[in-house]
Amino acid sequence: MPLAGRHVVLGVSGGIACYKSCTLARRLTEDGATVDVILTASAAEFVRPVTFEALTGRPVLISLWERDRALAHIGLAKEPDLVIVAPATANLLARGAMGMADDLLTALLLARTGPILCAPAMNDAMYAHPATMANLRTLMKRGWQFVGPEIGALAEGPSERPGRMSEPETIFAAATQLLAGKGPWSGKQVVVTAGPTREHLDPVRVITNPSSGRMGYALAEAAVARGAAVTLVAGPGQLPTPPGVAVVRVETTAEMLRAVQALVKHADVLIMAAAPADYRPAKAATTKRPRQKGRFTLALEPTPDILALVTRPKGCVTVGFALETGDGLARAREKLRTKRLDCIILNDALEPGAGFEVSTNRVTIIAKGREPIRLPLLAKRDVADRILDEVERAFS
Ligand SMILES: Cc1cc2nc3c(=O)[nH]c(=O)nc-3n(C[C@H](O)[C@H](O)[C@H](O)COP(=O)(O)O)c2cc1C
Repeated sequence: MPLAGRHVVLGVSGGIACYKSCTLARRLTEDGATVDVILTASAAEFVRPVTFEALTGRPVLISLWERDRALAHIGLAKEPDLVIVAPATANLLARGAMGMADDLLTALLLARTGPILCAPAMNDAMYAHPATMANLRTLMKRGWQFVGPEIGALAEGPSERPGRMSEPETIFAAATQLLAGKGPWSGKQVVVTAGPTREHLDPVRVITNPSSGRMGYALAEAAVARGAAVTLVAGPGQLPTPPGVAVVRVETTAEMLRAVQALVKHADVLIMAAAPADYRPAKAATTKRPRQKGRFTLALEPTPDILALVTRPKGCVTVGFALETGDGLARAREKLRTKRLDCIILNDALEPGAGFEVSTNRVTIIAKGREPIRLPLLAKRDVADRILDEVERAFS
């Protein structure tokens, strides 16, 4: 619960995306934040204050002229850890950039010296207008942080255009990252690999494995929540990109190697949670091999060993995974040594609830110079946090 005990003001201006702000208010509250919602008069036309009051358990403010909160705009500018504006209309951005203070939300934004996170949302023509672009640049220069807008279906129709507000979960992740501030992960560059790789026999047939990528995605999500800048090198899979994570998609082990090699140059942490194919056809056919009677023998060659080949910068904390069947402790320890890892995560593919395609895992964390720690069966997100605790220990 990274927002537990934090005070957040959620400013909502009058765009169609207001309905998503209800989910955001709920998400922030559920995570333990105290959430004060301020609506512009237009926003109150879209969603009634009582909805936000029920979700946050706190009164909603709209007017500068509330009798019992006469200086709310000054108090709420200073007190909260974070002010989020979601959605931010074109009009709100214009008023913010001009330094106007003609309602409670803009007065608060003008009096605010702490962080502001803004999620614009509008029609694509309004977004592309030079006035909006100039306002965005002005506000960025003044230190406002932005999340989105994204390309997607707008209220007017299904075609994909820029201007759509980021999803509440993405805004939540950006807020968490901003508030993580100067913790041990702040400013750290983290590269995580996830999922399987695929090696083609011919254009329509592949060698692969059932890895879903869940463990790597959970690690990426957990590292973002701690304030790191995270790039995920992901093999083929169906999982949605975790909010706040940059993704480089790859297909083969050689592609994964190239991506990791390029990204690791500036990395503080490298976590190799992917299950890349260890072998590939020695010769891939360029056209589909027809079905034939009798046996077909396929010659395989080893794929490049990513950990053995990438040159890691000095001090880059490196975590590897060892997926074994049966007692793999000795093999994992050997891998820790030969691959020059700081930590290796051993899991058993045959154990129920562990390994591929499930949302849980049972792992043993073997860190250099320390006794192995065998964890109970946990959700992969919880396993991710335990692994990151180990990485954090290696920082110091
Ligand atoms: C149905 C409807 C949807 C709207 N959606 C948006 C929107 O997504 N983004 C936006 O910038 N303006 C939108 N507007 C226009 C704003 O509501 C209008 O500019 C208003 O003055 C914004 O006021 P505020 O910024 O003080 O909340 C919409 C208006 C209507 C009637």
